[in-house]
Amino acid sequence: MATNTQTQVNKDKLIIFDTSLRDGEQSPGVSLNTEEKIEIAKQMSRLGVDVLEAGFPIASIGDFEAVQRIAREAGPLMEGREKIGQPMTICGLARSTPADIKRCAEAIADAPRRRIHVFLATSDLHLKYKLKIDREECVKRAVAAVTLAKSLVDDVEFSPEDAGRSDREFLCHVLSKVVEAGATTLNIPDTVGYNLPTEYGSLIKHLVENVQGADKIVFSTHCHNDLGLATANTLSGIQNGARQVEVTINGIGERAGNTAMEEVVMAVHTHPTFFPVHHTINTELFFPTSRMVSELSGMVVQPNKAIVGRNAFLHESGIHQDGVLKNRQTYEIITPESVGVTDIALVLGKHSGRNALRSRGAEMGFNLDETAFQRVFEDFKALCDSKKTVADDEIRAIFTKESRPI
Ligand code: KIV
Ligand code: ZN
Repeated sequence: MATNTQTQVNKDKLIIFDTSLRDGEQSPGVSLNTEEKIEIAKQMSRLGVDVLEAGFPIASIGDFEAVQRIAREAGPLMEGREKIGQPMTICGLARSTPADIKRCAEAIADAPRRRIHVFLATSDLHLKYKLKIDREECVKRAVAAVTLAKSLVDDVEFSPEDAGRSDREFLCHVLSKVVEAGATTLNIPDTVGYNLPTEYGSLIKHLVENVQGADKIVFSTHCHNDLGLATANTLSGIQNGARQVEVTINGIGERAGNTAMEEVVMAVHTHPTFFPVHHTINTELFFPTSRMVSELSGMVVQPNKAIVGRNAFLHESGIHQDGVLKNRQTYEIITPESVGVTDIALVLGKHSGRNALRSRGAEMGFNLDETAFQRVFEDFKALCDSKKTVADDEIRAIFTKESRPI
């Protein structure tokens, strides 16, 4: 058996498993070349990701080579991970067939820490129509796959695809069997983003309580966003015992995407009493990482996207701007700096008030008496009626008309 560091079950640690390069790359229209994947993989390592799913090696020669180069070039990196004390685990995906599993093992072989992630559908719908096998055959294939993977690496993850719509008792049976065969992580995919938060949380709880050998393994969430519930479901999974989350940067992924890493980490970060776990993510790298993934993948980040959207820290209304100028916490639950956003300015537009305009003028070096400032404010409001937001150059011009810079 290959030497490898086995997953330790630490009930306080939240393992961050990034699948931007695998499930994320399955976003319609996204295709990353090998150099781009390596650049993203290195950034994930600096970000503090614990496990990186680098790809699906059997899918194509290109995918195999990309996973292999990531294993060699990003796998051993320690820069930025000194506090974590170990390099990122490189994981490859495999269906439950010998060819997939062997190809995957070959691709990740040079990573100091490596994992094989095997999956097989367990819902009756998938068994009947997609795989055309019965439950008994499903258990046989899952056990054989995990047994083979375990003979190649120590760290084996198993995913019952479409777990969110699988029969719970059957799920417990399959999962108990794969734990016996050597799986160290059980990932529970809501493959089609169907579950509600209470439903997904209760599924995790049921599995934690009923899978044989559950105390020796890590339960993992894997949620899709078809109903816009991926983050809520993931958080519910953590509250019910999951200690690994499968996520992507910006929530990229199949159809409506996967759970966004930045949302889950910041939710956990801001609510320590709800989530008594620690993570090793350097949150200050979220914004630059989001921009990198967006630029390389061609997937635009919506302006109102939580945490990393262009508007996430912009305040437009006068009441909010006034509050933020007095104390940022009035309208900010996290600081922009804590997620790497450094060039925040108040957006000046028709909803802005006097305080925001005066503050921007002061930043530009203008200090007017009340009468002159009143004229500036009137000019500003007149300009706002003709456009959505007023640019700094225009603000400077209005102030300059009334005064000279001090
Ligand atoms: O959504 C899913 O079921 C998957 C599996 C391959 C883990 O991505
Ligand atoms: Zn998925």
